[in-house]
Amino acid sequence: PDDLRELSRRLGVHVGSAVDATALAGEADYRTVLNREFTHVTAENAMKWESIEPQRGVYDWEAADAVVRNALRNRQKIRGHTLVWHNQLPAWLTEGANDGSIGAAELRSILRKHIMTEVGRYRGKIRAWDVVNEVVDDSGNLRESIWLAHLGPGYIADAFRWAHQADPRAKLYINDYNLEWDTKKIGKTLEIVKDLKAKRVPIHGIGFQGHLGIQYDYPGDFANVMRQFTDLGLEAAITEADVRMVMPATPEKLATQADYYKRMLTTCVENRRCVEFTIWSFTDRHSWVPDWFEGEGAACVMDENLTPKPAYEALLTVRRR
Ligand code: G3I
Repeated sequence: PDDLRELSRRLGVHVGSAVDATALAGEADYRTVLNREFTHVTAENAMKWESIEPQRGVYDWEAADAVVRNALRNRQKIRGHTLVWHNQLPAWLTEGANDGSIGAAELRSILRKHIMTEVGRYRGKIRAWDVVNEVVDDSGNLRESIWLAHLGPGYIADAFRWAHQADPRAKLYINDYNLEWDTKKIGKTLEIVKDLKAKRVPIHGIGFQGHLGIQYDYPGDFANVMRQFTDLGLEAAITEADVRMVMPATPEKLATQADYYKRMLTTCVENRRCVEFTIWSFTDRHSWVPDWFEGEGAACVMDENLTPKPAYEALLTVRRR
């Protein structure tokens, strides 16, 4: 294959990227590569609650709509990201929940309205939604959040039911980081999925974010972990893959990175139920990594000038089993 779109066609797995809505609007070269290479996209920030409802009842759909419009024009499927999270919530919401001016009953109806409104707006256009994101913490417990504190653990089932009502054909996912290897998180997430299935809650997919770093061993058990979830009847996706490194980048580090990317995509390709491999931005020009991990970067498959790195070439060598 000459590019990732051709690779995706041959593998029968979507290869996707996060989309920076500002870059999409303002950078022609970014737009060209995004639309040429990928069959699936996720809005990096534009569909998050703080982006679409910055003030209560005041919606701003401009960036989210632009991402959706561009994807549909370019025959790309879309992952909606994300409906229920503890981060990037609007200030009016967290403040209201924390100071008690928004009580539990009202909070529940606010969450319901949020899900019905956003999923409803894009009904029929979003292939898969990250309904709940990062709901398990690093000790393997349900994460403390305004949702758990005020609504109790039932908010998770409610969120899936409401999303299903708003778009019965969308695939509904639970999504998390470190789920490739963190045994506490894996155990708790399996428990949540089994519980939801036992209650006939509409959950269809498991999302592995796939944020790796070459300073750590590759998570060698990932394929088995994925199988534990797909054996429950879920489809799977790698939703936010990237592989960071301590800067500066060297040829050796870039080779290790390429190997990690290749192994992640291979894990998806070798599981019949894994349908999507999405990278968390294709270019080092726009990556969350340098802002979050001091001294780290170069996590994407193309450099700042959109030149393919060894990781890009390595992905092209992945074959169907
Ligand atoms: O939009 C404001 C801008 O107005 C302001 O001037 C600027 C100054 O800091 O901040 C801008 O907001 C930033 C936003 O990205 C948009 O660029 C926030 O500060 C920054 O915190 C935010 O970071 C995002 C992060 O989620 C926040 O939680 C990253 O771009 C985004 O890649 C990252 O994505 C998450 C996934 O949603 C979930 N999984 C983990 C992943 C990586 O953290």
